[in-house]
Amino acid sequence: MNPLRPEKEVIERAAEIIRRGGIVAFPTETVYGLGANALDENAVRKVFEVKQRPADNPLIVHISRLDDLYLLASEVPEIANKLVSSFWPGPLTIVLPRSEIVPDVTTGGLWTVAIRMPSHPVARALIEASEVPIAAPSANLAGKPSPTSASHVFQDLGGKIEMILDGGEIIHGVESTVLDLTTSPPTLLRPGPVSVEELEALIGKVSLHPVVVGEPEEVLVAKSPGMKYRHYAPEAELVVIEGRPELVRRKMEEILLEKKMKGLKVGAVVTDEMANLQADVVKVVGSRKNVREIAKNIFRVLRELDAEGVRFAVIEGIEPKGIGLAVMNRLVKAAGHRVIRV
Ligand code: TXA
Ligand code: MG
Repeated sequence: MNPLRPEKEVIERAAEIIRRGGIVAFPTETVYGLGANALDENAVRKVFEVKQRPADNPLIVHISRLDDLYLLASEVPEIANKLVSSFWPGPLTIVLPRSEIVPDVTTGGLWTVAIRMPSHPVARALIEASEVPIAAPSANLAGKPSPTSASHVFQDLGGKIEMILDGGEIIHGVESTVLDLTTSPPTLLRPGPVSVEELEALIGKVSLHPVVVGEPEEVLVAKSPGMKYRHYAPEAELVVIEGRPELVRRKMEEILLEKKMKGLKVGAVVTDEMANLQADVVKVVGSRKNVREIAKNIFRVLRELDAEGVRFAVIEGIEPKGIGLAVMNRLVKAAGHRVIRV
C-alpha cells in the first residue's frame, strides 16, 4: 500500500473483514498489528487463537477519534487529557478504568483497558473505515519477536488470517509505551518510543514498574499480564553484555570463543562501533549515536539469527536512555534475563 495515501478500495475491503468479525494485519508506526473489532467477543477470541496468546494477556484497543476514548474508559482523568493532547496520535498507550462496552476477552478480564490512537495513515484509515475500535496485539506468534515488516507477519501467520496490509517499513520498530494512569503517580508498564524523559517533562514523576528496570517478571505479581511471558525470544540462546565498550568487547570475544569451541554456530548483535567483532554471523544494528536506528532494526535482527541457524549469540548492551530503555527492555526479555555486567 501507499503508506502515506492508503488506497481507498483496499482499505474498504479490509474494513469489511473487520466489520464481519474477521482479522486483518496492518502496519502501525511501531510494529505491525493483528486487528479485530474490539467490541466483538468472537472476533477478539480468534485473535488470541491465531496468535496462540494466553487468554489473560489483554489487548490494546486502537482508536482514530478522541470521542472513542470517552466511550471505552469509564473515567478520563485530567492527566490523560494532557498526555493525549501531546502524544496522540502516536506511540503512547494509556491504561484507564474500562467502560461496560469493552468485553472481558479484550481486557483479559481486567477492570482496566489499554487505549492508543496510532499515527500511521494506514492504521487510521482502517479504524475509520471499520467504524469500530480495533483490538490489536503485535502481529507475531506469541513468543516471537514483533513484526516490523509485512513479510515477518507472513512468516508467522501466513495462511491463518484473511488479509495483511503491506505498508512497507515501520517508523519506530519497538512497541508503544504503556502507561498506567490508574496509579498515582502513573506507572510505566512498558517502555517505548515515548520516553520516560518526555513523559516526566509533561506530567512530572512517573514510577517505573520493577519489570521495566530489569526484574525478572516471573517473581512479580503481574500488573500488566504480558510481562510474565517470555517475549521476543529467538531459538538461539542469547546473552546481553553491558558496561564500558572495551570491556564489553573483551567479554564478548571470550564467550564467543568458548561457545565456538563447543562446536556451536555463534552470532553477535553489535553496534557499528563493534562491527569488526568475529563470529559466524555478525548483525550490525546501527550506531550507538543513533539509538532510533537501533530500535528500528532490533526485532528484524533477532528473526534473522533464527533464520540463519545461530545457536548462541552475544548482544552488545546500549545505554538505557530515551528509546534505548525500550530496546534494552526487549533485549533483556529476549535473553531470558541472561545479562552480564562488566
Ligand atoms: O505498539 C503497540 O502497542 C503494538 C501495535 C500493534 O499497536 N501493539 C502491541 O500489543 O504491542 P501487544 O498485545 O503485543 O502488547 C500489549 C501490551 C501487553 O504487554 C499487555 O499486557 C499490555 O499491553 N496491556 C494491555 N491491556 C492492558 C491493561 N488493561 N492493563 C495493563 N496492561 C495492559
Ligand atoms: Mg506483542
